[in-house]
Amino acid sequence: MTSLQAKPLIIGHRGAAGEAPENTLASFALALRQGADAIELDIHVSADGELVVCHDATVNRTTNGEGAIAELTAASLKRLDAGGWFAERYAGEPVPLLEEVFSMVPAGIMINVEIKCAYSPRLEERLFELLKQFDRLEGVVVSSFNHKVLQRLKRSEPRLRIGLLYSSNFANHRKVAEVSGFEVYSLHPYYRLISPEDVADAAAHGLSVYPYTINRQEDLLAAIEAGMSGIITDYPGRLRELLKSRLP
Ligand code: G3P
Ligand code: MG
Repeated sequence: MTSLQAKPLIIGHRGAAGEAPENTLASFALALRQGADAIELDIHVSADGELVVCHDATVNRTTNGEGAIAELTAASLKRLDAGGWFAERYAGEPVPLLEEVFSMVPAGIMINVEIKCAYSPRLEERLFELLKQFDRLEGVVVSSFNHKVLQRLKRSEPRLRIGLLYSSNFANHRKVAEVSGFEVYSLHPYYRLISPEDVADAAAHGLSVYPYTINRQEDLLAAIEAGMSGIITDYPGRLRELLKSRLP
């Protein structure tokens, strides 16, 4: 077994989504207790312009309510149970707002905010307000499969850290960042599509690589060996244990 030079960041996917209801404060707290260095979460904009932490565009799958987030107010979203569907002991766990996550998560923990909705002036305004209020500009990486929304945000705030999310089998991953037309901080590929050579090439060009979403032990080990800068996983505790046994 080889020992590692650099330890990848443990990035808790939707918190610790394998063991707690995804994208809830309970899930983020569990990820932190399990030793995550960072958390990933998904956001949408509510009808009254709040940034709401939820993966889907509707609350149907992950709460006891129904409807599109874009058509619900923050107050009505707050009345929903986002934990009971996962396990009885999480019943009553609320849908968080992004500001509540910023408030709860210590400053040293990176937050990967994945934007699931289209660009809107309100999204931009509220995101920058919160980054400023919580002094999180350097502690947040904003990612999206929608690279147009990233481009718009980066234009408005050149210091914003941008992560390119994609699930395409590109011949040259690093060049995808180059052709995007804006400065990219990190690549977030679907994990099966990026090779150790791509990772080394990206790193040599100053890019971090945070593949998603790796859960099986053999895949976690391969990602560690490949020298990923960070690993997005539903099981931060599992990754923590693997890294413990491999670091000098
Ligand atoms: O940000 C990585 C990953 O979360 C992207 O896919 O569908 O789990 O948000 P999804
Ligand atoms: Mg996500």
